[in-house]
Amino acid sequence: LADFLTDTFGRQHDYLRISVTERCNLRCLYCMPEEGVPLSPQKELLTTPEILLLSSVFVSQGVTKIRLTGGEPTVRRDIVPLMQQIGSLRSHGLRELCLTTNGLSLHRKLDAMAEAGLTGVNLSLDTLDPWQFQLMTRRAGFAAVQKSIDRIFELNRLGAGIKFKINCVVMRGLNDREILPFVELTRDKDVEVRFIEYMPFDGNKWSKGKMFSYQEMLHVIRARYPDVHRSRDQHKNDTSKTYQVPGFVGRIGFITSMTHNFCGTCNRLRITSDGNLKVCLFGNAEVSLRDIVRQVNKGEPIDAEVFESMKQVAMDERRHLSPSDRGPPLLAPNSQELLDVI
Ligand code: GTP
Ligand code: 5AD
Ligand code: SF4
Repeated sequence: LADFLTDTFGRQHDYLRISVTERCNLRCLYCMPEEGVPLSPQKELLTTPEILLLSSVFVSQGVTKIRLTGGEPTVRRDIVPLMQQIGSLRSHGLRELCLTTNGLSLHRKLDAMAEAGLTGVNLSLDTLDPWQFQLMTRRAGFAAVQKSIDRIFELNRLGAGIKFKINCVVMRGLNDREILPFVELTRDKDVEVRFIEYMPFDGNKWSKGKMFSYQEMLHVIRARYPDVHRSRDQHKNDTSKTYQVPGFVGRIGFITSMTHNFCGTCNRLRITSDGNLKVCLFGNAEVSLRDIVRQVNKGEPIDAEVFESMKQVAMDERRHLSPSDRGPPLLAPNSQELLDVI
């Protein structure tokens, strides 16, 4: 079993992303249509005990970081108890428990989450202007997101130690004028603002023209901050290239999904909200861990056979993946699938 999490390229998959819901309370232009996405029947979705069981299996195999994603994870009703339970895996080797959220209702749950052992928040925010926010997310709510951001800084001031990143998808003609104001945020605040290249999903009306590349963003930033430089704070498995403006407290980063893939250092495993294990964001192969877990719940113990089937499928997927062919295809399968694993 020792090699379950290590693939043939020597990549140790010690970071597990779990999508805890398909639902979302925003409708970002680049992500979801106005009518939302088709939702799976409840019985197909992982229950809290199932998520917990899978988390503990993966932690027992060497996963040290779990990130809860969605949809929007905070719309799951029992997100706080779920986090508390996953948080208890710290005594079994879990070191980081993170959340990717749009921040809309985070402020209501953040204190309890911090208490449960939350170590990192990645908050998606594409604009600092309330009107533009409404345009890009098709919903009002900038003030609520601001409230969540303020609360993160306040908790950190009190010593919570939550690693805080803001994810900003840059779209030409929409929010590309806001790159510099986002960089300014890092002057006094301990936050990493990461600019993401706009990626195509089926149905999100992507066009090359709307993509604002890493090179262009850097050009804009260099014109204003000529001394911006690569940060020493770069971690091996980061999806982003990290930079810093001298004298600024925070950092900036670039997620170059379209122009430079980072598959060679990818250490992520993904579980979709309906319980499928995926190794690659853009891979198609999936195996249902839900079915395995439900078998276990019928009274069969988690025995070698169960581990074996998990290992088999994960390795099967990896056999036809190489770091070099894991870059993004022109079009991902569909927005729901991507949303579930992103
Ligand atoms: P940390 O490294 O823990 O901060 O988080 P993260 O970057 O893994 O997570 P987050 O949920 O904030 O995702 C940010 C962006 O990374 C997403 O918008 C995706 O664009 C991108 N991303 C994450 N994983 C992959 C991947 O395997 N391949 C590609 N191409 N992009 C990814
Ligand atoms: N292109 C780039 N990033 C995207 N995200 C969602 N859809 C896209 C897209 N089409 C980002 C969100 C969030 C992260 C998890 O994925 O903004 O920050
Ligand atoms: Fe919701 Fe995140 Fe998609 Fe926006 S990007 S619609 S916040 S899931």
